Amino acid sequence: SSIRPLVAGNWKMNGLAAHLSELQTMATGFEDASGGAAEALICVPATLIDRAVKSVAGSDFAIGAEDCHVEEKGAHTGDISAEMIADCGASYVIVGHSERRTNHGEDDATVAQKAKAGWRAGLTAIICVGETEAQRKAGETLDILERQIAGSVPAEANAENTVVAYEPVWAIGTGLTPTVEDVAEAHTHIRSRLVEALGEAGQSVRILYGGSVKPANAAELMAVQNVNGALIGGASLKADDFLGIAAVY
Ligand code: G3H
Repeated sequence: SSIRPLVAGNWKMNGLAAHLSELQTMATGFEDASGGAAEALICVPATLIDRAVKSVAGSDFAIGAEDCHVEEKGAHTGDISAEMIADCGASYVIVGHSERRTNHGEDDATVAQKAKAGWRAGLTAIICVGETEAQRKAGETLDILERQIAGSVPAEANAENTVVAYEPVWAIGTGLTPTVEDVAEAHTHIRSRLVEALGEAGQSVRILYGGSVKPANAAELMAVQNVNGALIGGASLKADDFLGIAAVY
């Protein structure tokens, strides 16, 4: 396909200032590793955004946040707005990660509002969807994805302002991954739902796969139809692993 893939990392609640040297190694090595064929992004804890942006200055490496509040400002102690994230020089924000949906009770409507909050600040939203183990065992995967896409992806989404990440919850941090057939089925389903909801724009929105992506399995996962890159947790903490994944391009 003509969609430029995105190799994206999510550090989650990991990383202190000392870890930025790893990020610098990634930024320096990414173009060589990927042969210039993919774009790179690392989403970091809010405390590191400003310094991460400075660490990758001069490279094409993008920096993102892991969440944002739905409002621009106000009485929300401890929360961070999309405007604040953009103000630090970041260009992406993850919304609706399953850890947010589970640990903070975020529903589809909240996730859609967060995506719009990101857009308002000029950020590209990475909207996460994915079924739990129980839902997969019950044969509900495609229905769940359909419901999450309908509820979390606003109607104005397009390839510039939105990336969708498919992350089966049971594959996150477990070392388990779906079969390539299951990944193909999920991504094809997401693609068709996006086209149905967004029209032509839905053809070019990137759909990332996330869940235990490692250098050893990245080649087969990234080759699946409608997989336009990866959202990488654990393996995005080490430059060797991240660049090993980029090397599949
Ligand atoms: O956002 C990233 C994912 O939750 C995947 O995490 O690569 O550690 O399984 P993982």
